[in-house]
Amino acid sequence: MTIRFLLNGEPVAVDAPPTRTLLDWLRESRGLTGTKEGCNEGDCGACTVMVTDDAGARALNACILFLPQLHGKAVRTIEGLAAPDGTLHPVQQAMIDHHGSQCGFCTPGIVMSMATAHLAGRTDHDDVLAGNLCRCTGYAPIIRAAEAAAPAPVPPHIRDTPLHPGKETPGAEVLPEGAEPAYLPASADALAAWYLDHPDATLVAGATDVGLWVTKGLRDLGPVAFLSQCADLRGVQDLGDSLRIGAMTTMAEMQALMAPLHPSYAELIRRYGSEQVRQAATLGGNIANGSPIGDNPPALIALGATLHLRRGDARRDIPIEDFFLDYGRQDRRPGEFVEAVSLPKSAPALRCYKLSKRFDQDISAVCGAFDITLADGIVTAARIAFGGMAGIPRRAASAEAALVGRAFASETAQAAAAALARDFEPLTDMRASAPYRLRAAQNMVLRYLADLSGQPTDVLKVTP
Ligand SMILES: Cc1cc2nc3c(=O)[nH]c(=O)nc-3n(C[C@H](O)[C@H](O)[C@H](O)COP(=O)(O)OP(=O)(O)OC[C@H]3O[C@@H](n4cnc5c(N)ncnc54)[C@H](O)[C@@H]3O)c2cc1C
Ligand code: FES
Ligand code: FES
Repeated sequence: MTIRFLLNGEPVAVDAPPTRTLLDWLRESRGLTGTKEGCNEGDCGACTVMVTDDAGARALNACILFLPQLHGKAVRTIEGLAAPDGTLHPVQQAMIDHHGSQCGFCTPGIVMSMATAHLAGRTDHDDVLAGNLCRCTGYAPIIRAAEAAAPAPVPPHIRDTPLHPGKETPGAEVLPEGAEPAYLPASADALAAWYLDHPDATLVAGATDVGLWVTKGLRDLGPVAFLSQCADLRGVQDLGDSLRIGAMTTMAEMQALMAPLHPSYAELIRRYGSEQVRQAATLGGNIANGSPIGDNPPALIALGATLHLRRGDARRDIPIEDFFLDYGRQDRRPGEFVEAVSLPKSAPALRCYKLSKRFDQDISAVCGAFDITLADGIVTAARIAFGGMAGIPRRAASAEAALVGRAFASETAQAAAAALARDFEPLTDMRASAPYRLRAAQNMVLRYLADLSGQPTDVLKVTP
């Protein structure tokens, strides 16, 4: 498989094993060692690079980015940030002026995140930098540098144009003997046909899970298909009362999409991984991996979303809650993949609460999503879903029943909270103990009542 992209403005053609990461290739094959390896699992941001495609420039972690995902795009590393005449990029200069670097190891990644945000005109520096770990500066000098650089014009060489190799998009190829098939389909139709013939293949969407299977699990993926060129798995269709959202929609795109419709869901996504993870991770991947602690499924279940599955030319739609059968087991047949998700545009009472040890860049210990319908003050319908409370994300039937037909007031909320003990027997693990999880989930019901009653419940807004 020959992969073509722009590297610091120059076209490159790469013949490499399909699961070679961009980070390894940059450092080992190109000698571009400015991009650092810290954790090699998407957590620290030391490997951050700028990747530009038709949707614009994104900061991504090179350690969990496979080369085929870059086909047709433009990659800029720290070596390509200063102007050709050596003039530093405004964020580089500001980092020097404001003493934003001490050990220097994490600095290239920090600078690449800042430069990508600078290009987009973003000033939400805390969110932009939450995925770049720095253990020495306390971040204040880095934030000061980002603020100082913000008004400076974007140097022209930073505005990359993606490569567009056109018909050279690699498809199913004649393979050398013994090589596993790797496929970069150009459409969902092509993917559907190939996946029927290779039902054991691994699909790679954003690779924020699959990347770790390779870098940490040292797994050989066997046959593999990369979904990054399937434009028809992206995009959003407005169906009037609902939206149909393509499986390859990233978390960053979801956050922007949900902000005006379901602000609480958008806030949940804001706390999903980091900027780099949100720019890579997809809605389809977050559902298909079947994780009991994925952040989207509770929100989607509370919204009553529909999952659109496809196998060859056959399509079926199921309520998303029916997809999760048991721990590690989903209602997905061999050769079947997630094509899209539909969700209602209006759910004014939807609230999503994520509880994790850290505010940013942490997996949920418990994630709760709530939606009720009220008529004359009486609850006529309730949908409550939790992640982190069982082997799968699922609804809280007893708690829902405790609400329906009653006024949503303190007593009812207490009854629903108590009912959660009948709905779930959570596990104890490194994130939380079972009693803590249950108590936290019960408190979320009370928080929901406070929230709908207009009391501030957001940790960033509550004051003593
Ligand atoms: C640093 C870090 C932080 C994270 N933080 C969070 C967090 O806060 N919340 C959270 O929920 N998750 C988090 N994750 C987990 C990860 O981001 C998600 O599970 C992610 O949504 C996976 O999506 P992806 O597109 O990267 O999937 P991939 O890694 O590409 O794939 C994941 C699985 O889904 C399958 N798959 C992908 N797309 C499809 C499709 N269309 N149809 C069928 N199967 C498909 C793949 O074959 C694979 O089995 C984090 C991960 C990292 C590395
Ligand atoms: S090396 Fe830590 S995120 Fe890539
Ligand atoms: S600059 Fe490396 S830990 Fe802060």
